[in-house]
Amino acid sequence: NKEIIPINEIPNFKSRAEEFFPIDWYKEMLHNHPVYFHEGTNTWNVFKYKDVKQVLSNYEFFSSNGPRTALFVGANKKPEKPTSLSNIVMADPPDHRKSRSLLSAAFTPRSLKNWEPRIQQIITDLVEDIQADTTVNIVEAFAAPLPGMVIADLFGVPIKDQQQFKAWVDILFQPYDKTRIEDIMQLKQQAQKEYFEYLYPIVIHKRSNLSDDIICDLIRAEVDGERFTDEEIVQATMLLLGAGVETTSHAIANTFYSMLYDDTSVYGELRNNIELVPNTVEEMLRYRFQSSRRERTVKQDNDLLGIPLKKGDTVIAWMSACNMDGDIFENSFEVDIHRSNNKKHLAFGSGPHFCLGAPLARLEMKLGLETFIKKFSRIESVEGYELEKNLTDSATGQSLTNLPIKVFK
Ligand code: HEM
Repeated sequence: NKEIIPINEIPNFKSRAEEFFPIDWYKEMLHNHPVYFHEGTNTWNVFKYKDVKQVLSNYEFFSSNGPRTALFVGANKKPEKPTSLSNIVMADPPDHRKSRSLLSAAFTPRSLKNWEPRIQQIITDLVEDIQADTTVNIVEAFAAPLPGMVIADLFGVPIKDQQQFKAWVDILFQPYDKTRIEDIMQLKQQAQKEYFEYLYPIVIHKRSNLSDDIICDLIRAEVDGERFTDEEIVQATMLLLGAGVETTSHAIANTFYSMLYDDTSVYGELRNNIELVPNTVEEMLRYRFQSSRRERTVKQDNDLLGIPLKKGDTVIAWMSACNMDGDIFENSFEVDIHRSNNKKHLAFGSGPHFCLGAPLARLEMKLGLETFIKKFSRIESVEGYELEKNLTDSATGQSLTNLPIKVFK
């Protein structure tokens, strides 16, 4: 059985709000403990950009397949036998290549181009439903539903079932609340079973009725004569949901948070210069995508981080911290939508495991922001908003549950 690292003990945050945006801790670590051994968890921790990049990408020395590696997939119950798919997150090259290539079939630039109108339509509908001159919880109305709706549509789930589909996804990726672990595990197993029973026949049906969606791309995908089985395709959809829904919601919600609380001039500037949106998206991923981190296991003794690492040691790469490294980003602790090199951020990782869904996430963020900004001339925060009371545990640490925004025509 795998030992899960209680990563939260490393920074020992005092509040949800601090974990939501650990800028002071990052500052301290970047300046005073760029390579830090934490005794309680028996882990090495790296914060500088060059070290994080090295740990994520140099798979000869830092392996994704460690005894302590925790999968980021939501449901707890793993398939009985390991499949080529369960490999994607945990395997190193060359084993990683096959599952990665198979799954990439669903994420070609051409598919994304084809799907853009569908994604735009979902976003337009969500924005249409927001009434001008009201106060809206932007998480509930926009950031939370958007990525799940997009993925359900791209999977080819019929519209009539999307409500039910969303209900399963919510349960599958609900974070574990320490006081109700048993309950939640049971709910998740039930949801996983129902999800499987729902999607499996759809995959079989699609095999003989190929169309233009992710499931059909996965059916068509072939690498070295190997293809996905129906069961693996259902698992692949779960993997994609686990990797792509909560993360993208988080990124969108935090972008709105930043426009309300980091720099209130950003919204007006974007409204006048909508072409600044893509660079703003990158800046938000750099500055406001908290708290991204990944662990690796040392594969062979080395001193690549300036310390003697032994085979089997665990190293944690803190991506969100390295995105504030002053050696790479000028005025790194400030948000600047004009920053010219912000695309270098490592929010999507680096190397062979670089996020497969990055182009999709970027597109959703760009279209989401553009569509919203074109409709509303101005946004304002509401007085008395208490961040601490509006956060919840999530895969990324702390995520917003409620972010009220006043929107003006
Ligand atoms: C991998 C971040 C959205 C699918 C990763 C990794 C990161 C990441 C950091 C690298 C993990 C590692 O090195 O071990 C993000 C962020 C997102 C996002 C910040 C949104 C803002 C998505 C979306 C999808 C997706 C929308 C697909 C629908 C994947 C997959 C992998 C992955 C399949 C595994 C790739 C591999 O191991 O080869 N993501 N992700 N992600 N992501 Fe994303």
